[in-house]
Amino acid sequence: MRKRLGVNIDHVATVRNARGETYPSPLKAALLSQKCGADSITIHLREDRRHINDKDLKDIKSKLKIPLNLEIASTKEMLKIALNHKPSFICIVPEKRKEVTTEGGLNLNYKKNFLKKIINQLQKNGSKVSLFIEPNIKDIKLAKKYFNCNSIEIHTGKICNLINGNKKYQNEFSKIKKAVNYANTLNLDVHAGHGITYKSAKILKRINNIKEFNIGHFLIGESIFLGLKKCISNFKKIIN
Ligand code: PXP
Repeated sequence: MRKRLGVNIDHVATVRNARGETYPSPLKAALLSQKCGADSITIHLREDRRHINDKDLKDIKSKLKIPLNLEIASTKEMLKIALNHKPSFICIVPEKRKEVTTEGGLNLNYKKNFLKKIINQLQKNGSKVSLFIEPNIKDIKLAKKYFNCNSIEIHTGKICNLINGNKKYQNEFSKIKKAVNYANTLNLDVHAGHGITYKSAKILKRINNIKEFNIGHFLIGESIFLGLKKCISNFKKIIN
């Protein structure tokens, strides 16, 4: 089956916000990515609105034709916003105020009941819900059997760091492969994301059961040199 490419455009907003200007426009980036063959657009509405803001979400949701994947932390504020906008996909991610980026997968034992409740509400509202987790069997089992989510997204930060640093990544690769194949036996759709570059995409795509890659920081950075169109096309060729 063809693997899907989700384009994360958070960092178009990072560049815009660095100068407090109205450009570059995340909406323009979302629509151009759609035109260039992205399968979905991912945005992370953070509590501190450091990149994507509420207006970006509203504009993108109203104009985009391909699925929108909204990343949120499990808070009451984000629940309300997600219920209101009803994106096709919601990925629940951990969030710490001081982190530069999402540093690891969710701790599924933290406010477990609340997390289960919000997943249920979001699903009843018509969104498919994914959990951003580390590649371990225990969490995958919980994601399916306790949280009843539709998919999982494996945090690939660790393996990507190893690959980019030319270090041995085989143990982490085996761990991810085992986790992905286990999730597949539970009928969970498996996505992967965080820190993915051309080099790590080439390695991770060997894991057949990863159905979707969500790529942001590297892709937006590389687009400065190549343009979004070429960069999206490069990633689509690599993952398939
Ligand atoms: N997937 C999830 C759940 C994320 O939170 C992020 C951003 O942290 C990404 C994918 C994209 O990561 P990156 O910007 O490093 O490509």
